[in-house]
Amino acid sequence: MYEEAEFPELLKNVIIQHQPITMNFPGLLKGEIHLWTASLTASPEKIEELRLVLSPEEQLRASYFKYESKQHDYIMSQAVLRVLISTYLHIAPGDVIMQARKKGKPFLVNDPSLFFNISNSHEVGVYAFSRDAEVGVDIEKIRELPDLDELIDKNMTSGEKAIILKDPDKKLSLFFQFWTFKESYLKAIGEGMRLTPDNLEFSLSEGKIGLRSVKFGFEASDWQFKDFARRGPYTGTLTHKGRGTVIRDMYLPHQ
Ligand SMILES: CC(C)(COP(=O)(O)OP(=O)(O)OC[C@H]1O[C@@H](n2cnc3c(N)ncnc32)[C@H](O)[C@@H]1OP(=O)(O)O)[C@@H](O)C(=O)NCCC(=O)NCCS
Repeated sequence: MYEEAEFPELLKNVIIQHQPITMNFPGLLKGEIHLWTASLTASPEKIEELRLVLSPEEQLRASYFKYESKQHDYIMSQAVLRVLISTYLHIAPGDVIMQARKKGKPFLVNDPSLFFNISNSHEVGVYAFSRDAEVGVDIEKIRELPDLDELIDKNMTSGEKAIILKDPDKKLSLFFQFWTFKESYLKAIGEGMRLTPDNLEFSLSEGKIGLRSVKFGFEASDWQFKDFARRGPYTGTLTHKGRGTVIRDMYLPHQ
């Protein structure tokens, strides 16, 4: 299962990488996570090509986006997801069947033991895959926020605020970092933002991320957190289970 395959033609201009594709599409081993990064900007021709990969329901959803740019992001992001999954499973992208759990987290009907989660922010998409357990991922573009202080106040605990406000130069990037800790965890456990971020407290000490507490008895043990940067002003976090997991961040940032 999930053995090496030929690299899908459809993704050749989409997946961001630091070298020409000379490799095959890698197999996904137990104890490993694949973290892919894709550029969601593409030529109109590429977007049309990838639109055809979507299911009729996804094409309908795409048509509801008010802004063309958002529609394009959705088409690209969903099509890349379908092609990645289809390559792992050795099936056609159109045969991938996804459904959402009660609180919205998508899973694969074809093979629920191929765990995945995706996140997009401002033309960049990230995709995490595991054969072992649920994963959560969140990426955010670090951008000016007019209501930054209010957001910090509303979403961060007092311990987190102390870290974020310690160095004014780092306030914005630390806010986004803590935000992605929280969102990636909430996506790993499938809650999404139904559990508000101030119900979780994270610590960050010498680069090590820890989940200190979660209110309401939500699952907290054994989750690991890995933050990742991307070229340009992006920050992201991957939440996964199992110490010693190998994270294959195969495609280096390059915008
Ligand atoms: C899921 C959620 C955390 C996404 O946040 P976001 O920053 O906008 O988006 P991201 O790009 O990081 O992630 C989006 C992807 O996460 C996945 N996702 C959706 N719900 C999820 C959940 N409960 N847990 C984990 N992943 C989820 C989907 O693949 C989604 O992609 P899609 O929007 O293209 O279908 C947020 O929208 C949420 O909590 N929603 C729950 C509340 C809700 O659904 N409200 C809508 C009205 S009922």
